[in-house]
Amino acid sequence: MNIQTEVKNKIATITIDRPKALNALNLEVLTELKSELSKLKNISVVIFTGGGEKAFVAGADIAAMSAMKPEEAKKFSEFGQSVIQFIEEAPFISIAAVNGFALGGGLELALACDLIYASTSAKFGLPETNLGIIPGFGGTVNLIPRAGYARAMEMILTGRMISAEEAKTFGIALELFQPADLIPKVNEIAEKLSKKGKQSLLCAKYLVKANAFSEKEAAIKAERDGFARLFDSGEPKEGMTAFLEKREPQFK
Ligand code: CAA
Repeated sequence: MNIQTEVKNKIATITIDRPKALNALNLEVLTELKSELSKLKNISVVIFTGGGEKAFVAGADIAAMSAMKPEEAKKFSEFGQSVIQFIEEAPFISIAAVNGFALGGGLELALACDLIYASTSAKFGLPETNLGIIPGFGGTVNLIPRAGYARAMEMILTGRMISAEEAKTFGIALELFQPADLIPKVNEIAEKLSKKGKQSLLCAKYLVKANAFSEKEAAIKAERDGFARLFDSGEPKEGMTAFLEKREPQFK
């Protein structure tokens, strides 16, 4: 199992627990995550965090993507987007407790959550262009309402990693806590939320979301199509092979 679920009162904590690969999301992890989420009943708040010392989630699994053909890339993006959408539309409040690297698909998972809190040592980024690809789990759509157009464009084009402090300044992380305090503090927030009426919380969540996003479905589909098309270009193969071989990519 790559996903650990702990339920206490009306709060579930989901840990993506594949520390050897910095909790990277492959099909197996995504499938387990969706299945665990589908099992939750009578839950008001779900906290997402990462297993091990270093990472929340370091992205979609590069080894799994490196040999994909466009059709497979499209299916992979579509499945990842479906997990993100499941979290976004779920009848609970979702909180990302970002305890380390939240990169690529990992940041996209955090962005799917209603609230994002982080440890002072967390690092954020959408480094896909370093690999010859683009964010494929909603990042081109979901970063903009939080960080704004200019920062979203900068983060996606440069692929640079930002500190927790910057993530707070950009509006991605709401508050930062010392690493040891992150989970206790997020639990306190979750407990307060779980004592509120669930219907009013959900009504508010869906209204805020509806007002923050327009034309979301078309934008998400366009992201998936772009992600898949790139796999015809040769850039993903060079970018991801270079990562796996621990060398700089040589894009033509
Ligand atoms: N996929 C697969 N494996 C990964 C991974 C990923 N996203 N991130 C890290 N790993 C693996 C590494 O390959 C390494 O495995 P080995 O021990 O077998 O070599 C292990 O996790 C530990 O990683 P590092 O040795 O690289 O650890 P580090 O501390 O030196 O660096 C890091 C940490 C900066 C996060 C670095 O691992 C890194 O840059 N990872 C890739 C981040 C990334 O590019 N994420 C985006 C993926 S693409 C994506 O997510 C697309 C999408 O939207 C759908």
